[in-house]
Amino acid sequence: MPITTCIFDAYGTLFDVAAAARQAASEPDFAAIKDTWPILAEHWRLKQLQYSWLRAVTGAHTDFWQVTQNGLDWALEKAGQSNNPALRERLLALYWELQAYPEVPAMLRALKDAGLNTAILSNGSPDMLAGAVDSAGIGDVLDDSLSVQSVGIFKPDARVYDLVGQRFGCAKDEVLFVSSNGWDAAAATGYGFTTAWVNRAGEPVDRLPWVPAHTMHDLTGIPSLAGL
Ligand code: LAC
Repeated sequence: MPITTCIFDAYGTLFDVAAAARQAASEPDFAAIKDTWPILAEHWRLKQLQYSWLRAVTGAHTDFWQVTQNGLDWALEKAGQSNNPALRERLLALYWELQAYPEVPAMLRALKDAGLNTAILSNGSPDMLAGAVDSAGIGDVLDDSLSVQSVGIFKPDARVYDLVGQRFGCAKDEVLFVSSNGWDAAAATGYGFTTAWVNRAGEPVDRLPWVPAHTMHDLTGIPSLAGL
């Protein structure tokens, strides 16, 4: 079947999750992380994801904002910054206004102009996603932001991927699912979507039972992958 529906992971895929720590580190008030922000950003992201998986397998679901804060608290302690509440507050505020990668608006516009469905499918809570979409100015080129909140479990549970068919009434093989998270793209392949892994950092492929169908360095190739 031709692709009718393009679905995007949010954090790390459309929105640059490192942007919060990079921005704070450039501000005079937060010179303490001027040189160490990349490892802080990496630990924050890693713990946020680990906590989402652990909560999924133990049935201890919570809002993604909660695991985002828990991940940050772990990363701040690791960086010796637990006693820096102003830094914590600044990083959390910046998470609501993450920059989109530069190619995102034109890529989504091309898909919309061709009449394809476009949406986010994310662990993010609806209000977090609304904040990021607004600050990136991409609301007019997205049909929807689908959040795991309505099913009460994080990715990669299949009930999350089910939200796409429920929203758009499309078959799995009409869906191009795009994620910068190798594990998300892999699991979505196992689910039955055509998948693209956006591997900006040149990471090794995840050793899982499924492999993303396509791998790219950024999002510019998505319209042609969707058949445009
Ligand atoms: C999301 C995370 C996994 O947006 O990046 O769902």
